[in-house]
Amino acid sequence: MYILGISSYSHEASCALIKDGEVCFVIEEERLNREKHTWKYPANAIAQCLACEGITMAEIDHITFFWKPELEILGNIKHVLKYFPQSLNLLRASSGGGELSVLNRLSLKKGIGKKIAQQFGLKKVPPVHFIEHHLAHAASAFFVSPFQEAAILTLDGRGESTSTMMARGQGNAIEKLAEITVPHSLGHLYAAVTDYLGFKPFFDEWKVMGMSAYGQDTYAASFAKIVDLLPDGTYRLNLDYFSFHTHGSSRWVSDLFLAIFGPKRRKDQAYDQRHFDVAYALQKTIERAGVHLAQGIWERTKSDNLCMTGGVVLNCLMNKKIIEESPFKNFFFQPIANDAGTSLGSALYYYHQILKKPRVEVFESPYLGMQYSNESIEAVLKEKGVPYVRTNNIAGDTAKHISQGKIVGWFQGRMEAGPRALGHRSIVVDPTDPAMKDRLNARVKKREMFRPFAPSVLEERAQDYFIMPKGQASPYMILIADVKEDKKPLLPSITHHDGTARVHTVSRKTAPEYWQLITEFEKLKGVAVLLNTSFNENEPIVATPQDAVNCFLRTELDVLAIGDFLAVKKP
Ligand SMILES: [Fe+2]
Repeated sequence: MYILGISSYSHEASCALIKDGEVCFVIEEERLNREKHTWKYPANAIAQCLACEGITMAEIDHITFFWKPELEILGNIKHVLKYFPQSLNLLRASSGGGELSVLNRLSLKKGIGKKIAQQFGLKKVPPVHFIEHHLAHAASAFFVSPFQEAAILTLDGRGESTSTMMARGQGNAIEKLAEITVPHSLGHLYAAVTDYLGFKPFFDEWKVMGMSAYGQDTYAASFAKIVDLLPDGTYRLNLDYFSFHTHGSSRWVSDLFLAIFGPKRRKDQAYDQRHFDVAYALQKTIERAGVHLAQGIWERTKSDNLCMTGGVVLNCLMNKKIIEESPFKNFFFQPIANDAGTSLGSALYYYHQILKKPRVEVFESPYLGMQYSNESIEAVLKEKGVPYVRTNNIAGDTAKHISQGKIVGWFQGRMEAGPRALGHRSIVVDPTDPAMKDRLNARVKKREMFRPFAPSVLEERAQDYFIMPKGQASPYMILIADVKEDKKPLLPSITHHDGTARVHTVSRKTAPEYWQLITEFEKLKGVAVLLNTSFNENEPIVATPQDAVNCFLRTELDVLAIGDFLAVKKP
């Protein structure tokens, strides 16, 4: 049985295909339409999922959608009445995608079947099932986790109206335990401060997390008043500090917030210590709330196992605290934690919860996208006129270039699902060079100075370099670890200002080519770590050989290692 899951008209539109409960493909539309965090109907991703599996739309048994529009309408009506008359502004406010009014968006969501009929020229489309957003998030984690029973915590900006859900998973069923609804939302709190600091909400939250390492304790006490942690393990935002619940994204914070924390930073304004201190205070508040919620769901379930997902779970500093300070022993963080994962989650929810089919899959590999043969890669290199050599030792030859200080684009195997480059579409460099971070930024990445770069380390060697929280591996780069004191001087370009690193542990089983590359680098430099950043330049991560070659030609990358081919620029 084939189920095709779709998410769109919010952010991170995507498509997923499962067959008899096994995950076949998950592809984010942004990689194909080249629009970061795109909200658009994922026509390309749907077509790719079908093409990769070699089937047609007519062979799909069910389509699932990541959202229940009628629940959103109901929630919005209640919300508008509660905050009337200021809330009338919301009827015109922009959506997550920023281009559509709420009313427009709802009609599009209801029209998903029509879109599919149009795209594939069908009179009759497979039945479309609308799945509640946070249940789709929850399903994306629990049904592919290694646990037969677990506590499930989902945290994002908002679903139809839920922002936070506590649930219990048992076998092939998920049972809701508690929900928090908007405007009380940790995702919206983070988005509000992201906007306040002069960045784009639902887009640049990474930057704020990076900034927090440079902050001091100036505002932590005042900021703590913004979130009330309740005795039942849930929380509420203190709405005196916000305006988004009445004005949407045109006005995120209130005059009270501005009076206490100072004026909003303009996009072009230089950073000062106050900005870093507010980021710090926000981050500490999120971590405290995350640990509180984890404790709250543990009290309700007394489980040893915790599954987490939703956009806020990309906050890996919070995840570290939850691992360290909650009573749970085992953890599964769904790597496709943002809304891209709800295409998959909606399909899994329908298969297990509605159709009551048994569990079959444990998520082990994030490599769920397209792959390309050497023949098709070579054709692209020829077409673009790029000089190259073919090698039967791509890992060894590439490692030599990295050890000589070159910036290398590494393109191998199936594309990663989720927001992180995990060694199949990565830029890799030597992490021991103290000047590398600046060089990488000047030549390719163009990031703000306060954003860290992450390390990839051989899974079996992670403990030699990093203090992994509760000994957890981090195969999806969704956890933070402290860099061991004696290794900090050895790894200057991946050690963040606060002494941490967002570690990616590389398994020989799931990423053999990348594992081999790090192994070859270790033979040359004695360090089983590479600096790994996404293969892109201010654009979605490259997906196809064409994207990779274009990025190589456009930027100051030194080397492109793609399939069995090496292209090296003349100095
Ligand atoms: Fe979400």
